[in-house]
Amino acid sequence: MLTGKAALAGVLGWPVAHSKSPQVHGYWLEEHGIDGAYVPLAVAPERFAAAVPALRDLHFRGANVTVPHKERALEICDSVDDHARRLGAVNTLIFDAAGIHGRNTDGVGFLDNLRQGAPRWSPADGPAVVLGAGGAARAVIVALMDAGVPEIRLMNRTRERAETLAETLGGPITVHAWDGWADALDGAALLVNTTSLGMTGEPPLPAELDALPPSAVVNDIVYRPLETQLLSDARARGNPVVDGLGMLLHQARPGFAAWFGVEPTVTEALRAHVLGG
Ligand code: ATR
Repeated sequence: MLTGKAALAGVLGWPVAHSKSPQVHGYWLEEHGIDGAYVPLAVAPERFAAAVPALRDLHFRGANVTVPHKERALEICDSVDDHARRLGAVNTLIFDAAGIHGRNTDGVGFLDNLRQGAPRWSPADGPAVVLGAGGAARAVIVALMDAGVPEIRLMNRTRERAETLAETLGGPITVHAWDGWADALDGAALLVNTTSLGMTGEPPLPAELDALPPSAVVNDIVYRPLETQLLSDARARGNPVVDGLGMLLHQARPGFAAWFGVEPTVTEALRAHVLGG
């Protein structure tokens, strides 16, 4: 139940109806019996820069930011964390007396999901193969580099985009051909799909896993469906697999902790709640 002292947060998007964030935060608010609310906020791009300070005036604690506002959000913050700056995008806003603070929690969400789903994986295990070169790939690569993965092999349909990303990010990134599976997977400890291939309504990922070591962890950040063709192929040959739903759930944790003062956890019950909703 809400009182006049309720802590408020929400998600800014355009459109916003598809966002799972209200279900995730709503679940945690109820689980912890918190006097608070988390609401979907449909804000058109041209209203975004005015809407954020208005939310702060209304004593919201902060908000998540989703498509198409993540890049614009970076510009309107008083301060941003290192990840947001390197990714060029903010997904979490925290308001306090000093102003509007922007964070990007995609990378930590990706790593926390991987660690929870594949507890035996360690960054030092060996090269990671990343498929895709969009915004999601960027967050994943930065997280893996920061965690100390010794080599990142990047594969993307448009090779030029992969090369530009590798150049921009620096670090131990090598670009492999989109059909160069045997080379890229040889000796790899981790394979991550960040492309939209395999998502409901999209073509399947044309992966050839023959060269992938049996101990390598396979993670698909696609979560609709939960079990993509990539994950079922990897599972069939005995590789440990991690689905993408947990990244969505884990990336929400830092915001919830900052706004509502409780560290939430990602449980099977939360996964079932979000999948069922
Ligand atoms: P996001 O920000 O979510 O990562 P994005 O920037 O649109 O989204 O990137 C989508 C990724 O999926 C890209 O790596 C894209 O490859 P291209 O750079 O070649 O476009 C990849 N992708 C999407 N559809 C694809 C397809 N049919 N075949 C191969 N790759 C595809």
